[in-house]
Amino acid sequence: MKRRPARRPSPASSALRLSLLAAIGAGGCVEDQDPADAALPDAEQLDGSVDVAPDLAVDVGPDVAPPDMILPPPDMALPDGAPPPAPCEGAAPIMTPEGTPSGAVRCPDGAIDRVAAEVCEPRVDLPACPADAEGNEGGCAEDADCTDGPHGRCVQPPLGGGIAFCACRYGCATDSDCGEDEVCICAGVVDGSSRCVPAGCDTGADCDSGECGISSAYDGCDYSVRTACRAPDDLCRTDDECREMATGDTCEYTNGWGCQFQPVCGRPLTVDGAARTAAATPRGDWRTPARPALEALSAAERRALTRWWSQIGGLEHASVASFARTTMQLLALGAPADLLADTQAAAADEVRHARLAYGLASAYAGRPLGPAPLDLHDVGLELEKAAIVTALVDEGCVGETLGAAEAGFIAEAADPTVAEVGRGLVVDESRHAGLAWRTLKWLLADEALIPVAEAALARAADRLDEADYGDGPHLPAHGLPGPDARRALHRAAFADVVRPCAEALGLRAPA
Ligand SMILES: [Fe+2]
Ligand SMILES: [Fe+2]
Repeated sequence: MKRRPARRPSPASSALRLSLLAAIGAGGCVEDQDPADAALPDAEQLDGSVDVAPDLAVDVGPDVAPPDMILPPPDMALPDGAPPPAPCEGAAPIMTPEGTPSGAVRCPDGAIDRVAAEVCEPRVDLPACPADAEGNEGGCAEDADCTDGPHGRCVQPPLGGGIAFCACRYGCATDSDCGEDEVCICAGVVDGSSRCVPAGCDTGADCDSGECGISSAYDGCDYSVRTACRAPDDLCRTDDECREMATGDTCEYTNGWGCQFQPVCGRPLTVDGAARTAAATPRGDWRTPARPALEALSAAERRALTRWWSQIGGLEHASVASFARTTMQLLALGAPADLLADTQAAAADEVRHARLAYGLASAYAGRPLGPAPLDLHDVGLELEKAAIVTALVDEGCVGETLGAAEAGFIAEAADPTVAEVGRGLVVDESRHAGLAWRTLKWLLADEALIPVAEAALARAADRLDEADYGDGPHLPAHGLPGPDARRALHRAAFADVVRPCAEALGLRAPA
């Protein structure tokens, strides 16, 4: 892990650190400030235009431009009639819904590669836009409105299990239906739709490795798909690898092939190292009605904010399960009553947080949204102390602390409705983070668990160091940090809050 230059913590980070140090009885050892003042940064500290933003800007660094598309040289095209090279031993062809070859194959390890440009049906497998659709400002009303390319359809793009807007989607039958730097991925490869995608390669013939990978990741709203050459030193090939390594949820190509995590805001429920959340779905019983200002927002910005607040709602909703699991673990370990009472109270906080987040998601979507059922079929009750400490460090000490930092960003939103939600989250998430550190302190009375906690912290630090925050808009007025801002928030919270709290418990904190 790379060492970062020394930097003065922001006032918000200092306040959170003091709050957590006070929770573990180490509040007086750092700075001469009344811990009672430390739980919530005051109004001036929450004004990021003065105090927080310049400090965060130090860590952000220059924007990293996406790599140029790697266009295959014309002389590397396959001769007509030549069989495509096999990208991996034992690859199986992926067929379209019509039963014809899609041009993609699945390797035995699950990685998907493109081996040929096939002709396929230009399917768009999404429901047509209904005549009474809500929230389709700037979108389409019927297929005839979709004229930017061939095979246009006016449809309802999915949002988890729900629907937000009507929008044009364009299928493709061949690469010639797509733009200059794109290829056509047939239906059956990613989902039931065909689509033109950015192309780093057409087939394995364009790649030194012989493998032209198809990267796809579902972001809660749609699939992000592209092709890119694979290489022997890629960080991953499949989603399963990322989950096994606990370094992310999906293996996708951004600046290289690597594992990606969902954004963190609040305590995640981790199952086998991966965050588990419910999809968003149309329902009205999980929202606290909210009225953020929508007038100045484009349809694309509203979609981004719908996605962001749905993701936060999903994480808050899953936090309830995390605290429920922790409750039973603490009972099994004979924990003191105050830890149990606070853990139960925190679970109730998370229900409220989920409703606030889904309230905002619903407002941006223009229709009610809430959580689909949370898949818990494989969530066991782990009672081994080492596993409990590991989950507590991941979900509580790190997850809640980063969540509190993100809540601080939301509290600075110019939109008063969003800012009010953020201010409430700062108070609660800071308290939850303090609870996690107090619980860890109690568990570490067993000194054999110290190296377990240190290893979990080191893994968390490595994940943060290697995390790719992808692309996305920066809409601070509505509480959505862009990739650079989110990276800076997380790294500052880890350096300025997690590390000193770990050291206060006598743990060797990662550099
Ligand atoms: Fe929360
Ligand atoms: Fe929380």
